[in-house]
Order: sequence, then structure tokens, then C-alpha cells
Amino acid sequence: MLPIIFLLLILFNYEAFGRDIWTPDQAWAWFNSQKYIMGSEYMPAYAVNQLEFFQAETFDADTIDNDLEAYGKLGMNTIRVFMIDVAYTIDPTGFKSRLNTLISIAAKYGIKPTLLFFTPSAIANPVPGKQPLPIPGVESSGWAQTPSANNLMNPSTWPTLETYVKDVVGTFANDSRVLMWDIWNEPDNGLNSTEVSFLDQMLPQAFEWARSVNPIQPLTSSIWNSITSSTGRLQINNSDIVSFHK
Ligand SMILES: *[C@@H]1O[C@H](CO)[C@@H](O)[C@H](O)[C@H]1NC(C)=O
Ligand SMILES: *[C@@H]1O[C@H](CO)[C@@H](O)[C@H](O)[C@H]1NC(C)=O
Ligand SMILES: *[C@@H]1O[C@H](CO)[C@@H](O)[C@H](O)[C@H]1NC(C)=O
Repeated sequence: MLPIIFLLLILFNYEAFGRDIWTPDQAWAWFNSQKYIMGSEYMPAYAVNQLEFFQAETFDADTIDNDLEAYGKLGMNTIRVFMIDVAYTIDPTGFKSRLNTLISIAAKYGIKPTLLFFTPSAIANPVPGKQPLPIPGVESSGWAQTPSANNLMNPSTWPTLETYVKDVVGTFANDSRVLMWDIWNEPDNGLNSTEVSFLDQMLPQAFEWARSVNPIQPLTSSIWNSITSSTGRLQINNSDIVSFHK
């Protein structure tokens, strides 16, 4: 009887907590199995932000196809794609379907997307629907923060974010067309100390949500300012592979 109970416990454990953080050996094995990884951020020509990118009213597969065909011809093999919780929450099935369309188009041109969940940005509390026009000459003027500043500072809203992360990572967890998941882009870029204290609570949880559905892809969180700040250390400690900006 004992071995059977033991086995059941292992299975239960696996279900409940997902996989472990990669060891350095696993991280190197993944890195060494990649081509030279080269690419940039990608926002389609028609979109001022992630909502205009992914909402049903504006999502435009033809433009994405044209953009990525040119991109692939330049020899690029990854794009960083900013997603947004609001686009998922108002229409989970549609959002995942459009994400799958994007991933399929990218695959045609030899491009594996890095998919990003959370990021600080210009619009602190974005709302779905029509988005603002870009401000000429201002980089990323209309990009949207996710989670919104209000939700970041209100942990009672985080279960909605947990559903989003688990469903999206779970849907593509075994999909080799996806390069990696960036759980939180430059998390402390421009946030004040109150926001950072909530960020430091939520960031490790967001990693756990993603890891709980056993993705084959690595998880990372691109470091912005410092590897010694509280946020920087949390990012490094929770990442399968370390990535950084600046
Ligand atoms: C991924 O593949 C593993 C092993 O083949 C399987 O157990 C698991 O259910 C798959 N996960 C998803 C989300 O499809
Ligand atoms: C930090 O930013 C949030 C969101 O914009 C704001 O509500 C809060 O008052 C700010 N706190 C401080 C200490 O500036
Ligand atoms: C990160 O991990 C190191 C080594 O295990 C540990 O000493 C440190 O306290 C951790 N830092 C944070 C912010 O979790």
C-alpha cells in the first residue's frame, strides 16, 4: 500500500505546485539549443497599445502578416509581444484565439514570440474600447499599464490576474512556437514606493501562477534598474533564465 500512496502524493504535488525553477544546467541546455536569438519589441503598425493590438474590433491579421514577413526577411527570429489582462478578461476565448493567430503567423516566418504579461506604462488605468491617438514624436505614448495601477494596489483583484496567467500559459504550455514568457517587463520602471511594495508581493505569485501549469518554455522578468533592489532580487530568484535591459 505504501508505494501507491507515495505515488499519489507525488502526482498530487505535481498538479498543485507545477514545475520547479530551472537549474543553471537546464537554463544552459535551453540556451544552447536556440539559434542566435535576435529581435525587438513588436506592436503592429495599426495599434497604439496592447488593447488596440488584441481587441476584436481592431485586431488585424493581414497587417501582422505583412509586418512579420518583412521582419523575418531581416533575419529576426523573435518578437517581444506585450499582452494585457483587460483584453483577456473582456473576452478570454477571443483573446486566446487571436494570440494563437499571431503565434501562427510568426511561425510562418521563423519567429518565436516572447510573450509578456505585466508592465508599467504610460496609461496607468487603461479601459477597453477606443484607445487614444498616439502623441506625435512621443515613444509608446499610448501604451497601457498592466495590471492597472488601481488593480496592482488592490490585492482583492489579483485572482482575476491569476486566472489570466494560468489560462494563457496553460493554453500554450507545450507549444514550441513560443520562445519564453516575460512575466513582468521592467517592473519597477517609474513606479513609486507604494506601488513597488505591492509589486514585490505580487511578482513572486505571478511566477508561481505561470509555473503551476508546467510550461516547457522558460519564465523570465526583464530587469530594469538594479540587480540589488528588492524587486531585482525577486526577479532573479524567480526566473528560469535571467534577462535584463539598460
Ligand atoms: C503538456 O504535455 C504533457 C506531457 O506530454 C502533458 O502531461 C500535459 O497535460 C500537457 N499540457 C498541456 C497544457 O497541454
Ligand atoms: C503612487 O502611485 C499611485 C498610483 O498612481 C498613487 O495612487 C499613490 O498615491 C502614489 N503614492 C505616492 C506615495 O506617491
Ligand atoms: C534571493 O535568493 C537568495 C539566495 O537564495 C536569498 O539570499 C535572498 O534573500 C533572496 N532574495 C529575495 C528578495 O527573495
